[in-house]
Amino acid sequence: MSIVAPPILRTVADLRDRIAQWRREGARIGLIPTMGALHEGHLTLVRRALEAGECAVVSIFVNPTQFGPNEDFGAYPRREADDVAKFAAVGGHLVWAPTVDAMYPGGFATHVAVSGLTDGLCGPFRPGHFQGVATVVAKLLLQVLPDRAYFGQKDYQQLQVVRRMACDLDIPTRIVGVPTVREADGLALSSRNIYLSTDERQAASLLPQVMQETAAAALAGHAPFAELLESARARLAAAGFGPIDYVAICDAERLEPVEDLARPARLFVAARLGKTRLIDNIPIEAPAP
Ligand code: PAJ
Repeated sequence: MSIVAPPILRTVADLRDRIAQWRREGARIGLIPTMGALHEGHLTLVRRALEAGECAVVSIFVNPTQFGPNEDFGAYPRREADDVAKFAAVGGHLVWAPTVDAMYPGGFATHVAVSGLTDGLCGPFRPGHFQGVATVVAKLLLQVLPDRAYFGQKDYQQLQVVRRMACDLDIPTRIVGVPTVREADGLALSSRNIYLSTDERQAASLLPQVMQETAAAALAGHAPFAELLESARARLAAAGFGPIDYVAICDAERLEPVEDLARPARLFVAARLGKTRLIDNIPIEAPAP
């Protein structure tokens, strides 16, 4: 089977030409926004678009405005050739890889802020992060005008923020959430996992384990949530995680902390392991039969 290299476009004008041509041909378009360093999680989103019969557009843009001053914008892995090869191998159609100047030309002054959903979880620990995400995703959706855009549940708060933003701004794209892709030991795939040392990578497998056990105990009603969360925190701290930003059970839609399972809820964790900040979340529900 021969692999066709997808075109890489870098200006909004070129992108619009290509999209307009596809629209004239009656094609449906699926967008997968990424910051590159593509892994199986990203490629699963691409496959979802292809399975839906869409022309798959991946955006690769390490968005400076969603990184805090002490975060890893400079160190974030950039490996475009490798990304394009992976995207081509699964049958992706187009790479949208704008420069920072194409995305934020001189004079850029508009920002999109989603309130409420960004008050908790990662919000207070990453000031400005979700405004950076909401702004760049609004731009990407308006640049590509896809039928559907695919986001991972791995970044569940981001997914909810994007849903809210697209709905509030009347952007006519369906936002599709895709379950988290994990390593064999349960660790969620992430472009940042490459920062982990061998020892840290081994310790990291405790995170999904503690999360599964905590979710199961919450479901079984073994103890009040506060107690279960405290014991999860203690186990992670004992294994070398820290600081632990949060271990929380929240309503799956509003992302507010809850104390019972009257409505669908998820367990959320953010914790540092060495220099790497890991985030993960899982639904609190009975396993499928
Ligand atoms: P990035 O971290 O590159 O992730 C791109 C998309 O891949 C996101 O929707 C993310 O949730 C999804 N993803 C990452 N790891 C995954 C996994 N293990 N399983 C399933 N999906 C996974 O998220 C961003 O980039 C940026 O904030 C972006 C939305 C592109 C805006 O800049």
